[in-house]
Amino acid sequence: MKTIQAGTYNVHFQQKAYKFLSNLVEDNNYSSVFILLDENTLEHCYPKFISNFATEKRIEVIEIESGEINKNIDTCIGVWNAITELGGDRKSLLITLGGGVITDLGGFVASCFKRGIDFVNIPTTLLSMVDASVGGKTGVDLGVLKNQIGLFANPKMVIVDSDYLTTVTEREIKSGTAEIIKYGLTYDTDLFNEIKNNKKLEISNLIQRSIEIKNEVVLQDPREQNLRKILNFGHTLGHAIESFYLESEDKENLTHGEAIAIGMVCESFMSYKLLGFPAEKVNEIKEVILSIYKRTHLLKEDFSDIMELLKHDKKNINGQVNFVLLNDYEDYKIDCKVPEKLILESMEFYNE
Ligand code: GLY
Repeated sequence: MKTIQAGTYNVHFQQKAYKFLSNLVEDNNYSSVFILLDENTLEHCYPKFISNFATEKRIEVIEIESGEINKNIDTCIGVWNAITELGGDRKSLLITLGGGVITDLGGFVASCFKRGIDFVNIPTTLLSMVDASVGGKTGVDLGVLKNQIGLFANPKMVIVDSDYLTTVTEREIKSGTAEIIKYGLTYDTDLFNEIKNNKKLEISNLIQRSIEIKNEVVLQDPREQNLRKILNFGHTLGHAIESFYLESEDKENLTHGEAIAIGMVCESFMSYKLLGFPAEKVNEIKEVILSIYKRTHLLKEDFSDIMELLKHDKKNINGQVNFVLLNDYEDYKIDCKVPEKLILESMEFYNE
């Protein structure tokens, strides 16, 4: 797998990546190295990481509790306190070792600590490999509202080592697959077809291609003024659905990918109704998604709560929800206003 140049930093792959990390630490003469992880990555990923990372520097491990529910400012305060108590300074490096919660939160923590220290992302889930760890978005949730607090800040390096995927569940792999489907639908139909035809998927090729796409998009539009909005396809309604399940104590949470997979079906339907996106492609998307993810029955009585959560989407301006929709595969339209009735109809379409 070839190194990807992502503007100010590189994405290195597999075993050879750890040598680049050791060099980075030496070249920058960091005062100390903090590793942010959770109980799962401490047990399953840290041993591999530490046996590959050669450094003379002082290493301190900071563990937080896993789960989206902990992706909040209180957890950040705990990490800032820990770094302070352990003598962290402006020349410290923070390495994040984990899924999207760890990489998003860790990047945010590093970018705010003493006005910013360097950080390196080492994603350990498919979702964080193909999306969260690359592109410079960092942040935390505000209550159940996803990623409301955050800033753009690039890591010094990203290391993608697919060996870590042996430590995650099938459900987590499927969660990351939803982001790959998103790249396929919005940017590279061949990638979507690979998933649709369920060829023996070579995961490292899918990861490499997904990061290449994300990088091409982000390099053209780092601050999400235009093109980068395609990366939100399925996410506008998907995030509201994800938040709804997060706040419903009597319902099992959805993974991020499960929620945005539903969002992609619904937003394809809106695309069909509003932009003439071909009906057969809407059905194709629904079929592919339902062949991967178990169907979640969205209850009609929950629709109003989901609509309420939609009002907090980060892309909203003046209270108006903005969707990115499809004219066709690889052909998008940003800032689409969708009548409330059609949003409700799209959830019914998903249920059918
Ligand atoms: N996850 C969407 C983006 O990075 O823009």
